[in-house]
Amino acid sequence: MSVLFEPVTIGSLTLNNRIIRSATYYALADRNGYVGEESVALMRTLAGGGPGLIVTGYAFVHESGQVVPDMNGIQTDEHIPGYQEMTRAVHEKNGLVVLQIVHGGSAAYAASFFDNDYLAVSVLDDMPRYRKQAREMTGEDIEKIIISFGEAGRRAREAGFDGVQIHGAHGYLVSQFLSPATNHRDDRWGGSLENRMRFVLEVVRAVKNRAGDDFPVMIKLGCRDFLEDEPGLAIEEGAEVAAALEREGVSAVEISNGLPFEHTIPTGINTPEKEAYYFPEARVVRDKTSVPLWLVGGMRSLSVMESVVESGVADCVSLCRPFIREPHLVRRWKEGDTRPADCISCGGCFHYTGKGGHRIACRILERRRSRKE
Ligand SMILES: Cc1cc2nc3c(=O)[nH]c(=O)nc-3n(C[C@H](O)[C@H](O)[C@H](O)COP(=O)(O)O)c2cc1C
Repeated sequence: MSVLFEPVTIGSLTLNNRIIRSATYYALADRNGYVGEESVALMRTLAGGGPGLIVTGYAFVHESGQVVPDMNGIQTDEHIPGYQEMTRAVHEKNGLVVLQIVHGGSAAYAASFFDNDYLAVSVLDDMPRYRKQAREMTGEDIEKIIISFGEAGRRAREAGFDGVQIHGAHGYLVSQFLSPATNHRDDRWGGSLENRMRFVLEVVRAVKNRAGDDFPVMIKLGCRDFLEDEPGLAIEEGAEVAAALEREGVSAVEISNGLPFEHTIPTGINTPEKEAYYFPEARVVRDKTSVPLWLVGGMRSLSVMESVVESGVADCVSLCRPFIREPHLVRRWKEGDTRPADCISCGGCFHYTGKGGHRIACRILERRRSRKE
């Protein structure tokens, strides 16, 4: 049997395989972040396809951290019932699901004052706060957002989630604090790495404090910036952060990028050599910690994913775009159809505007469908 279909322990959870659905924003929530039947149906479908774990699309913890109008929110207790439906649907299919929690950062305010051109604070132009110039957070703002993360963790538990994943990547607020390119503070939240990582460590503490120490807290970590014109977060620093998070009791670290956002969803992954593009970064992190690592980014063929896990560098692999095209991909693989994912990594899903406006869908499949109509 493939190593990918061996169980793995993440905190108090046992995943029955090592292929994870990475967080994917689906543009299905309403303007205030409430989820409805469409989101529940999507999760039911995904769970039926048998991934080891599903991470939801990002959910904002405070109204100032909303990135786009139709993303999930977990900013009030009134949001809990919608998510209860979601977790019930996944559990009925014997799946596991964790809520990804985020503050978008420069959509409202930021670790430091800066020109936010290279921060993808939004993918849509109709967001009122979009491209508003960020103002530096006060100490009070920072405390308020840490509390919001804690409350979001408590709500996630009450909603029946199997854990939370803190979004600490892609230039959003946690990632902005970590990066010297976006954190120019000279107080205890900026400067040295120790100070820059204080925010994420406080967020973890707040979540554990409010959700309970036994509630699995994971993180998607932007371990490295890839900026051309200025120094950003170095991978050695990212590895230090992962080690500190392990000491703080985090159950898993998903390896991803910090800035710039363009590095998050690269296109044209059409050979096995282009897959698993953050493997070198994961290796550096692995050397510093023994926390379970997931590797995201360009996983398309079973042989590459197996070699990632067999190398011992990562314990799990996580995929996003392939599940947009084939929600039942894991089942297909398990049943013996071992062809690589059909996804051609065109990135069209992210910007898809079909009938009815912006939504997330595989552009290739949608084109085929509309030709047939
Ligand atoms: C449509 C779409 C939505 C995404 N939404 C999120 C999200 O909500 N949170 C997150 O951490 N990453 C998000 N990502 C990034 C993916 O989780 C993943 O890191 C990236 O796409 C690389 O993996 P892949 O090659 O398997 O697609 C999104 C990507 C796409 C294409």
